[in-house]
Amino acid sequence: MTDKIQDLLHRVEAFAPRTAAEIEEFRIRILGRKGELNALMEEFKSVAPELKRELGQQINHLKSAALERINALKGELEERQSASAASVGDMTRPGSAGQSGSRHPISLVKNQIVEIFSRLGYTVAEGPEIEDDWHVFSALNFPPEHPARDMQDTFFIGKNPDVLLRTHTSSIQVRTMEHQRPPIRVICPGRVFRNEAISYRAHCIFHQIEGLYIDRNVSFADMKQSILYFAKELFGESSTIRMRPSYFPFTEPSAEVDVSCNLCGGKGCNVCKGTGWLEIMGCGMVDPNVLEANGIDSKEYSGFAFGMGVERIAMLKYGVKDLRLYFENDVRFLHQFDSAL
Ligand code: PHE
Repeated sequence: MTDKIQDLLHRVEAFAPRTAAEIEEFRIRILGRKGELNALMEEFKSVAPELKRELGQQINHLKSAALERINALKGELEERQSASAASVGDMTRPGSAGQSGSRHPISLVKNQIVEIFSRLGYTVAEGPEIEDDWHVFSALNFPPEHPARDMQDTFFIGKNPDVLLRTHTSSIQVRTMEHQRPPIRVICPGRVFRNEAISYRAHCIFHQIEGLYIDRNVSFADMKQSILYFAKELFGESSTIRMRPSYFPFTEPSAEVDVSCNLCGGKGCNVCKGTGWLEIMGCGMVDPNVLEANGIDSKEYSGFAFGMGVERIAMLKYGVKDLRLYFENDVRFLHQFDSAL
């Protein structure tokens, strides 16, 4: 009987089917009710008692080996079939369109702003987010103890006061002046960081775009004309701008720029709070101290700079009332910009 068991075991191990039907046929022949294994069990009933233990073990082993082999063969066959289906493809199945992502509204607006200024001859400059005191403050005419440093609550990294996250992208302008002689015409987009409480109108991380133009005989009128062109391109041909006096350590004189409210056409609505104007950026003529600190002769050259928050511009452009939506990445919000430029 041992021989029969061994013979069957060998056949189970050597079995090499090509189809699922062959496997099933084999299973029935071996493990079925009238199969070879049951026949062995029948024979087993009449073996001598002293052989039962040994033969019983052999039969049990045979049974589990056969089950395992059949299951393994089925698994292999299925895998082979799905692999070949994947490589050849089922040509009769309906096609499925791949899901494509869309640009984030902040990227859309950033690209648009950059594109408008590139038409005026500006090129893009970038710089590091982790900065030092010189590039963020000192080179921009912030005196050491000047309270203006608190104006932009700074995140410091560790205990070293000289390692900090940039609070504005003006640091890129400093880096540009280090490496480039006038004429300079750069637009500097980037992420900035300020220790501010998060609300519908402020966040501790946001995006800025700043511009710098330095050449001989650059005047305030040039700045005004450039910004007016930008406002008309971004908010529509009928837009106008106004400037209000302001203060920045790195520009003199300085101004805040308002654009006419494109929702109510200047008549006054709840977005412009009844004023007809929306604040969009700060600007000014580069302070001679800044030019000198960066090795540019302030008697020969003059320039202007401007800076704006991308989230703010995007809020005005798309009528979004809560800035936090730009950071949550809720796809229901983002999908609304699928078809945007
Ligand atoms: N750096 C200023 C800010 O972050 C913006 C600005 C840039 C103002 C250039 C004037 C000129 O608030």
